[in-house]
Amino acid sequence: MSVELASNLGVVPGAEETNNSPLVVRGMTVSYGQKPVVFSVDMTVQEGAMTAIIGPNGAGKSTLLKAALGIVRPLAGHALVFGKSLKHQRHRIAYVPQRASVDWDFPTRVIDVVLMGLYRELGLLRRVRQVHLDKVTACLERVGMVDFADRQIGQLSGGQQQRVFLARALAQGADLYLLDEPFAGVDAATEKAIISVLKGLREEGKTVVAVHHDLSTVHEYFDRVFMINTRKIAEGSVAAAFTSENLDKAYGGRLATGQIDQLALTAS
Ligand SMILES: Nc1ncnc2c1ncn2[C@@H]1O[C@H](COP(=O)(O)OP(=O)(O)OP(=O)(O)O)[C@@H](O)[C@H]1O
Ligand SMILES: [Mg+2]
Repeated sequence: MSVELASNLGVVPGAEETNNSPLVVRGMTVSYGQKPVVFSVDMTVQEGAMTAIIGPNGAGKSTLLKAALGIVRPLAGHALVFGKSLKHQRHRIAYVPQRASVDWDFPTRVIDVVLMGLYRELGLLRRVRQVHLDKVTACLERVGMVDFADRQIGQLSGGQQQRVFLARALAQGADLYLLDEPFAGVDAATEKAIISVLKGLREEGKTVVAVHHDLSTVHEYFDRVFMINTRKIAEGSVAAAFTSENLDKAYGGRLATGQIDQLALTAS
């Protein structure tokens, strides 16, 4: 039975465990105060696809990811990762948080940041061997940051830091990549480098979900769209979900009508 069908029929959550989607979110409601910032959201992420989470500032995009990852506690709802609860699947997820949310002042070298991605392999003793260093180098190479391995992370530009955190995610060897605004504040070269790494992951059959703000690149970068403004607005292929009607619902008066029509047109 499909998850949609199961939830329509009001089947108990446990029955969804037959669904092996990389990430299934059901009935997620999150509130930091009185008012929910994410309300009763259902999401089903398609395996092997690149999905953009889009919606205006404050729409609950970051909060939805954090709730799915168990970083914030929801008022209601749950998430399943490859059909199982998060605690059994955490190692299969790599998460790159929104940059502004992390304090980079602590002294840590680039190489150590990427090594963190290997925490499972390093084990309790954290003994770093050549094989681990080789992996770190390979991941830094993939994002074009190998020359910066010994630099303090705080001494890198924002775009360079973003590449390093992508390298850490790669080191983890996860199956599901959740990225919160990977292109925010990066230049065109870094954006190209990051998108080509993400497309490479898709070619390997991995699943990528990224919060994305630049509506003009949605159709070029992504296969699917999840549109949110506290509630889910739309979910589906770019062609089906990235429509002027849905954009209007999500962004309200914040986008000019002409702009919306143009964006939806370029998508179709
Ligand atoms: N830790 C927090 N405590 C209180 N309120 C919060 C917290 N984090 C987020 N919020 C509020 O919850 C709402 C949703 O925030 P969230 O960060 O999820 O939005 P977003 O869609 O990611 O926005 P942006 O595009 O600006 O990143 C906002 O109104 C925000 O002010
Ligand atoms: Mg955010």
